[in-house]
Amino acid sequence: MEAIDLILTRRSVRSFSSEPVDQEEIETLLRAAMQAPSSSNSQPWQFVVISDRRMLESITEFHPFSSALRTAPIAILVCGDSRLEVGTGRWIQSCSAAAENLLLAAHARGLGGVWLGIQPEEQRIQGIKRLVELPSGVHPLALIAIGHPAGKYEAPMSHYQPDRVHYNGW
Ligand SMILES: Cc1cc2nc3c(=O)[nH]c(=O)nc-3n(C[C@H](O)[C@H](O)[C@H](O)COP(=O)(O)O)c2cc1C
Repeated sequence: MEAIDLILTRRSVRSFSSEPVDQEEIETLLRAAMQAPSSSNSQPWQFVVISDRRMLESITEFHPFSSALRTAPIAILVCGDSRLEVGTGRWIQSCSAAAENLLLAAHARGLGGVWLGIQPEEQRIQGIKRLVELPSGVHPLALIAIGHPAGKYEAPMSHYQPDRVHYNGW
């Protein structure tokens, strides 16, 4: 698939088959994530791969919109490490680029994924920090649930809105 078609056909997938995601695939996704642009090339990210079924289920107790984890074989927690930042306050932007790369790489490999927001909800931040025992200075941004899609997903509707584009000023 051409890169532009890949981008235009990505959609959130929230229901997965029982097929596992093998380690080689996980590494490919992480390689794609870490190839993202980052402020001053600081690469301020850390990733926690969660495959333990009980841990995945327990996240649904403090994250109200995480039903995708009931069937996802893995989820990758994207974190910003403020100790790795150059300057301050840009880890969210850099790590968001990494998270989108993860989603696109999953789609490219025939997997599906969905971004489960963590930051800035304090209950989700504290819940996930406790669960995976993040050290201080490491901030959870998003949890990306990944797996083989259950069944066939329709192509997404186009999100393109020409009236949101302004040329040479508003
Ligand atoms: C910052 C952010 C937070 C999100 N949080 C959740 C979430 O908690 N649960 C969920 O099921 N989807 C979540 N999503 C996925 C969005 O609902 C989804 O991207 C949006 O509805 C558009 O659908 P699409 O990804 O299929 O284009 C989140 C997406 C982003 C970018």
